[in-house]
Amino acid sequence: MSADGVILLLSGPNLNLLGEREPEIYGTATLEDHVAAARGAAEGLGFTLEHSQSNHEGDLVESVHAARGATVAIVINAGALTHTSWSLHDALAAYNGVVVELHLSNPAARESFRHTSTIAAVSDGCIAGFGGLGYPLAIEAVARILAARS
Ligand code: DQA
Repeated sequence: MSADGVILLLSGPNLNLLGEREPEIYGTATLEDHVAAARGAAEGLGFTLEHSQSNHEGDLVESVHAARGATVAIVINAGALTHTSWSLHDALAAYNGVVVELHLSNPAARESFRHTSTIAAVSDGCIAGFGGLGYPLAIEAVARILAARS
């Protein structure tokens, strides 16, 4: 498969509960709503969006492996695995496309265990704290980074 124009949006644990889960922090939009917003932004910029959500760390690692050579970028909201997962760090380190770390909330303004990101060092940048707006912003960031590199 050609990698041209494919962006992978990867969603980690508990994000399948968005809309019901702690709406005062994460809002009332569902994951489907966020995927639709990301897809709309991607298609408007000439990209195709693939999405995968899992509550299992190994599944997310496998998705990153499968994205190697098959996608130009990964936008990842790894949920709480952001703060703990060295296997995701290592998988992303072996990925050579653009990586954007994404969060609905602003982890830096929350509990101290959220202040560490294992994936920050293997990401091009992070978009956090803008709620659902972060999804189209992350796609826009990918497009601009790729355009600047070409
Ligand atoms: C989150 C922030 C994480 O700290 C948390 O564990 C999540 C969601 C966010 O999108 O704000 O599950 O990634």
